[in-house]
Amino acid sequence: MIPPGLHAVLAILALLPAAPDRDEIIVADFEGETYLPWVAEGEAFGVGPARGALPGQMGVSGFLGRGLVNSFVGGDDSTGTLTSPPIRVERPFLNFLIGGGKYPGENCLDLVVDGATVRTATGPNDRPGGSERLDWASWDVSALVGKEAVLRVVDRRTGGWGHITVDQIVQSDRPRGVVPAAFDLAADARYLHLPIREDAPIRRVRVAVDGTVAREFDIKLAAGQPAYSAFLDLSPFASKRLRIEADLPAGSGALGEISRSNEVPDAGGLYREAGRPQFHFTSRRGWLNDPNGLVWHDGEYHLFYQHNPYGWDWGNMHWGHAVSKDLVRWAELPIALYPRRYDDWCFSGSAVVDDANTSGFGEGGAPMVLAYTSTGRGECIAFSRDRGRTWSEYPGNPVIRHQGRDPRLLRLPASGKWAMAVYDEGGGGKAIAFYSSPDLKAWTYESKIDGFYECPDLFELPVEGEPGRSLWVLSGADGEYILGRFDGRTFAPEPGRHRTWHGDFYAAQTFSNEPNGRRVQIGWARGIAFPGMPFNQQMTVPCELTLRPTGDGVRMFARPVVELDGLRSGGKAWRDLDLGPEARPLDGAEGDLLDIRIAAEVGTAGKFTLRIPGAAITYDAGRRTIACAGFTAPLSPSGGTVTLRILADRRSVEVFGDNGRVALSGARARTQGGRPEPPTIEGEGVRIRSIEVDKLGSTWK
Ligand code: FRU
Repeated sequence: MIPPGLHAVLAILALLPAAPDRDEIIVADFEGETYLPWVAEGEAFGVGPARGALPGQMGVSGFLGRGLVNSFVGGDDSTGTLTSPPIRVERPFLNFLIGGGKYPGENCLDLVVDGATVRTATGPNDRPGGSERLDWASWDVSALVGKEAVLRVVDRRTGGWGHITVDQIVQSDRPRGVVPAAFDLAADARYLHLPIREDAPIRRVRVAVDGTVAREFDIKLAAGQPAYSAFLDLSPFASKRLRIEADLPAGSGALGEISRSNEVPDAGGLYREAGRPQFHFTSRRGWLNDPNGLVWHDGEYHLFYQHNPYGWDWGNMHWGHAVSKDLVRWAELPIALYPRRYDDWCFSGSAVVDDANTSGFGEGGAPMVLAYTSTGRGECIAFSRDRGRTWSEYPGNPVIRHQGRDPRLLRLPASGKWAMAVYDEGGGGKAIAFYSSPDLKAWTYESKIDGFYECPDLFELPVEGEPGRSLWVLSGADGEYILGRFDGRTFAPEPGRHRTWHGDFYAAQTFSNEPNGRRVQIGWARGIAFPGMPFNQQMTVPCELTLRPTGDGVRMFARPVVELDGLRSGGKAWRDLDLGPEARPLDGAEGDLLDIRIAAEVGTAGKFTLRIPGAAITYDAGRRTIACAGFTAPLSPSGGTVTLRILADRRSVEVFGDNGRVALSGARARTQGGRPEPPTIEGEGVRIRSIEVDKLGSTWK
């Protein structure tokens, strides 16, 4: 579909200088042995142009010919300047290749006229990672034609990305770098389709409504042959005129590839993609990380999540949203929280139902209230009166300003008050701070506990088998937890730090207001990636948490919720197998999606390995470990026996040992298509009491 606004793009192109035919003037191509007639001062530039990457530098690409300016001489910490002789500005554009650090005034190429810097440019990098590629940039210098100017490459910056690269400075009648492009359209369809290619440069796109920017995000916008399309929901702007703007290379067709439709892109193929997990939550499109705002309300479980709707990588943080009646089958809803501005993203947080309407946000019903970190403001709250379908910001936001993030709200049943556990790095420490509030709006700082990083969770659980006894659990993003008592103001810990989860597991959170009184947890299976798919990252399966006494003291157990059992079919079982070194196929149990339960007598030294296509799970009684997908976790046999439950989805495996005392999440390697091979099992010193294998169905059907 070609947007009617394409004409506007063409109109903008028509504004460019007509029929340029003069030769370009090469100011410098840095192909010589020395910089002459340019003059280098300091150490950063060395005595002459570099020939690509310098020692210790990532591969440098994008420069022309053999030589370029590269201020990485001696590494990032060297500084200096490189200055041209005076040049006369003779063309309306100055084009050049530039890369390296993005530190205006410190790492830059400057154009200096009469002693004043009149134009400046930097590379694209201001955080770890990034690329050493040089890209074209252009300055419109038409107002300076006839003047004398000096070019100066500056490196005053030390530390990461404290260097700059420059090449091929050319005077021209046409710009080579990016120029503003735009088109207008009516929001007369539900979705804008945004074509993406992973190898396309990142562009900043703005969507303006009535002259005000309503959405602004980074996207690898494809100028043709997209790998897939992301989408932007236009319903908030229904029947308005929109202007889509981006800085693009002159003549780029990228905006012309944007189209409109009432369906999301490839709606027919949704959830049928070859790599799509079938019983783990993934987003229709784009990236996800932390689960956010887990809450049950009025018949629905809500799963919000950290979400980049416009790409496969982390960035553009929104709150995605899905609902489920059974924790297993999820329906995706429109995005719940959009960043207010490009530089004010919606980081992690939590949600509660304010039954007593302490907040006053409710009107004839209990409002849902969420807390999230606005990266530009602090901890903020928002409420919904329509079952989470739309959210309004509390006008008094932010409710807490501090150096921290990831607010976890909870109600204290005894007092009816609210508490918040929130990551706090003020003063340089890594801590969880506790706040209290009567109404979710006014918060009072109470105390802090050191030694945790990001995404706290805090809840109370009964200790099974010990009537009347309960303990509080406090966890950080990596899954480590402590037990203790919490009185709404301070956490009094018992000795010891513990963990149930190992492997690809991060930033887990439990549901508030779970209707059956369960503590149900979902984590982000951080690290499980989906190359070639229009989405990336998955959640772990929902698990019920319990506290149970063990020989080592009380510990938290995690077991997949019973609702998952409803996906089982075609069960097969084997009993009383003595294992040997030869792999024994479990014929008839082949499948992509498996639920395997094993009870094995392993004594003190038995060892066995279960193999499914793309993964191996090894239990070693001698070492008292379970290993899978490159991760190893401690697991002791009890009474010479070990039990395992294994859930295998298309790209992941979760292993639950000893009824969930230990849980492990990892990636499953991709295997050749075709009919899956049956699982096999081999071992020594092991008698299998039983293996039960069920195939699991898809939750998307
Ligand atoms: C944890 C985290 C949070 C933050 C969010 C941003 O994975 O870094 O601390 O709120 O992700 O996406």
